[in-house]
Amino acid sequence: EFMREMSGLSNMEKQLKAILGISQVLILPQDSDDIPAVKTKIGKEAARLLEMKFPLHKKIAVTGGSTMAAISKEISSDKRDRSLQFIAARGGLGEDVLHQANTIASLFAEKTGGAVKTLYLPDHLSAEAYEMMMREPVIKEMMDLYDETDVVVHGIGNAEEIALHRKSSPEEVEMIRKGGAVSEAFGYYFDNEGNVVYRIRTAGIQMEQVQKAKAILAVAGGRSKAKAILSYFNIAPRQTVLVTDEGAARKIIELT
Ligand code: BG6
Repeated sequence: EFMREMSGLSNMEKQLKAILGISQVLILPQDSDDIPAVKTKIGKEAARLLEMKFPLHKKIAVTGGSTMAAISKEISSDKRDRSLQFIAARGGLGEDVLHQANTIASLFAEKTGGAVKTLYLPDHLSAEAYEMMMREPVIKEMMDLYDETDVVVHGIGNAEEIALHRKSSPEEVEMIRKGGAVSEAFGYYFDNEGNVVYRIRTAGIQMEQVQKAKAILAVAGGRSKAKAILSYFNIAPRQTVLVTDEGAARKIIELT
């Protein structure tokens, strides 16, 4: 704690809480854009925060991404709890298997001894396929489960990075470029003001369902994520706790 005071991290946490309008922010030293080990530290911190919820909150929805994967690696297998249930927050087929919500939810379950609910559906469905899927009982069951979610743990994507490096549909790239998308979470794309400018047609948790969760953990670091974090926190539910790093924090303060 003394070290945090000295390095100014706790002061930055206070500033970020005010800027983002939330009551808890945790900042890890340095920048994960430069030092990959910082992402591991973010993962560790988020894992400890999440584990504290386990005694009271059993239904936990998780998204995909490399930051979420870092958390799953840091979850301890010491305190096994078979009453935990991990739910993939979206279909997620289309991205690297290791970074899919399904894979991450399965890892959480394996480590904690909990159960897992996965959803294997392509990330980009045609309007027709989407309508049909939504009528399938197994999919419906999953959608109902999202209504009962106690905790949501998620990453925040940088729209530009997604357009450049991920297998985005031409539609998505168009919306990112022309629609002014800055951030992405749960398959929703948001502009600088937090307006939804596009939504991937995928089966997954809805923003209204995220809002109802008792606890939400948003995990994203690196200065390259600063604009995305600012964009998403325009609409982030108030109970969201942010785990980030100094690189992102400094840039956010600089931008505001
Ligand atoms: C994607 C998720 O896989 O990862 C997104 O589908 C998320 O919802 C993004 O925003 C964040 O990724 P990363 O690798 O930067 O943690």
